[in-house]
Amino acid sequence: MADRIRRIAVCTGGGDAPGLNAVIRAVVISAANRGWECYGIHDGFNGILFPERYPEGGVYRLTRERVRGIGHLGGTILGTTNKGNPLHFPMKMPDGTMKDTDRTGEILEFFARKELDALVSIGGDGSLTIANALHQKGLRVVGVPKTIDNDLDKTFTTFGFDSAVAFATECLDRLHSTAESHQRVMVVEVMGRYAGWIALHAGISGSAHAILIPEISFDVDKVAAKIRDRDSEGRMYSIVVVAEGAEPIHGHREILAPAEIGHAERLGGVGERIARALGERTGKDVRVVVLGHLLRGGSPTSFDRLAAMRFGTAAVRGLEEGRSGVMVALAFPNVNYVALEEVAGRMKGVPADCDTLQTGRDLGISFGD
Ligand code: F6P
Repeated sequence: MADRIRRIAVCTGGGDAPGLNAVIRAVVISAANRGWECYGIHDGFNGILFPERYPEGGVYRLTRERVRGIGHLGGTILGTTNKGNPLHFPMKMPDGTMKDTDRTGEILEFFARKELDALVSIGGDGSLTIANALHQKGLRVVGVPKTIDNDLDKTFTTFGFDSAVAFATECLDRLHSTAESHQRVMVVEVMGRYAGWIALHAGISGSAHAILIPEISFDVDKVAAKIRDRDSEGRMYSIVVVAEGAEPIHGHREILAPAEIGHAERLGGVGERIARALGERTGKDVRVVVLGHLLRGGSPTSFDRLAAMRFGTAAVRGLEEGRSGVMVALAFPNVNYVALEEVAGRMKGVPADCDTLQTGRDLGISFGD
């Protein structure tokens, strides 16, 4: 058993996701119930790297009182960032160029100086890669899998995904009636980065007629053919769900902004492109709805809330049991622990033999292939 824990810190990194506050609350309460003190780090690790930005201090005490009533709220009370990865921090050199710098040493030094015994790092692939590096450098760390994209390996699901899918499904439900009234094609672009989970789950749940995901390169002519088939059967409207990372067979993925040091590229724009192509090919009126960051906002569903609470408390139990370098994961029916090493830098896309995909095909949904 590792040394007894007295003080832990918690941080949230990457894009926010519904359920973050529920994890923070679960960590704080279950730590307090063990007599541990809990500290929150502002904005990923910025609270440590830039303490001067925070009048109350970049790292502050999280008491039960501070987390009271936040379990159902979207966002994160700690703040988050998907810029300035401490492993690849952009530092301006005297000649004006930017240098990729490793600042994790400053984080380790902070933990030692403040006598913080362990870290609970809540985040997606980027944050868990940082967590793994900190663990390898000697920090006690447990990760919690967060992302609306559901693209983390070794866990059945991440928290945040169910809320994003529920919202996207509700949007699709609403779009059916207006699309049908106007005999239009509605193209709905959803987030998900290089994985098609949100598009696939929401598209099937919301009865879309075509679903385009990064794992299956699409041919827009096939999607247009699907729309024409529907028209010829008297179903004069169609709903096409497209994941932001979807790629045409002849062409490239749409990028809004290229990657920079410490910051991934921004995807987006494929919806507009497909809408233009479908309009040209079918002669129909086509409209685009980009759900974007709406998928990240709002309250977590009960599934995500419960997952968040199970993950947060399991992270604290894991630390108590002496675990480090692990991520809590959902392995139905229980939560378990997997090595961060097995998760960091690996993406979980929709597998070709996934039954959900087959479900869509059996229902006659076009995947553009
Ligand atoms: O990873 C979550 C996510 O919402 C992706 O689906 C999306 O590509 C990205 O973050 C958007 O990031 P930003 O908040 O920087 O626009």
